[in-house]
Amino acid sequence: AKYIGILTAGGDSPGLNAAIRGVGKAALNHYGMQMIGFRDGFRGLMENRTMRLEAADLSDILTRGGTLLGTSRDKPHRMPIGGKQMDMTDVIVGNYYDNHLDVLVCLGGGGTQKNALRLKERGLNVITLPKTIDNDIAMTDITFGFDTALGIATDAIDRLHSTAHSHHRIIVVEIMGHRAGWLALGAGIAGGADVILIPEVPYAVESVAEAIRERSRRGKSFSIVAIAEGALSLQEHATLAEVVKKRNASKHKEGKKAVVESAPELQYAEKTVRLAKQLELLTGLESRITILGHLQRGGIPSAADRLLSTRLGTACADLIDQGQFGVMVAARGDATQAVLLEEVAGKVKTVPQDHPWIQSARHLGISMGD
Ligand code: F6P
Repeated sequence: AKYIGILTAGGDSPGLNAAIRGVGKAALNHYGMQMIGFRDGFRGLMENRTMRLEAADLSDILTRGGTLLGTSRDKPHRMPIGGKQMDMTDVIVGNYYDNHLDVLVCLGGGGTQKNALRLKERGLNVITLPKTIDNDIAMTDITFGFDTALGIATDAIDRLHSTAHSHHRIIVVEIMGHRAGWLALGAGIAGGADVILIPEVPYAVESVAEAIRERSRRGKSFSIVAIAEGALSLQEHATLAEVVKKRNASKHKEGKKAVVESAPELQYAEKTVRLAKQLELLTGLESRITILGHLQRGGIPSAADRLLSTRLGTACADLIDQGQFGVMVAARGDATQAVLLEEVAGKVKTVPQDHPWIQSARHLGISMGD
């Protein structure tokens, strides 16, 4: 019988347990395979911390949030050990063989796709599933966790409406999504935000302020601004470019590869506080901020996420049965599709400028801040 190793890596996401159950139940019950779990992502695989996963262990987990395996953001080739980052890929490869695995199933987001590809290049059989509330993985229509987070963020905007309205305030609500604006855009539209700011559309603070003032002139003395974590004003874009250039130049001097992409000056919450203050000054309206943070990743998965996780999970077991490895199980319409990891890893699915959601937002009169 085939022997499966499974792990969950990166930030947790609603639907992970449903996906583990989907892979496991199909593999064990339908195909007669066996499965073990590794705890806390690639760290547990490196430390060989395993968890028994028999049919009974897969019961009663469908609706649970988080991941029963635990997770971490540790990477095989840059594992934090004793204050240093060590390449532990050899140990991981060794543990794969010591556990007599036929395949390693990795449930994770963008980082996990890259790590899985590295293990594929070392000759391991790997299959991944696309998990993230950000919905920013390439080559799949959607990722599990997104729908649940969308529901939570939309509910939050709904609730903020009544208090913003009562107090005649601006409420700036920060929504997760550091590279792509799917969540902020989707929740912003579904929740009826007045302004939506996403990483794909650099915004001008003055233009946001004008949208709010225009609402006031129409008698609407409150506004909801939905901002994605990674959204930057034009000025912040310029600062980022400057900082990245400087830091990479000094890294280059030290002979290191230029990898700096962010700047501490542009921390999410601080940017949001700054924007709220600027809007207060520019509009004369009192403002407040709400950072939804990890609330968006917690709790039970929505029905749509359970369904998606389950169908991707069972499709994963089918691929293992067919011996098709080195792929991500993608959702394509009603079907699932095996996509080569090379086509997924290192790519980010951002919101296209002409995406129907953006068009729809603009036609509704929602300001995108540009
Ligand atoms: O990638 C998923 C995500 O939730 C992002 O939206 C967010 O920027 C990040 O994880 C937060 O990471 P952490 O859980 O490590 O704080």
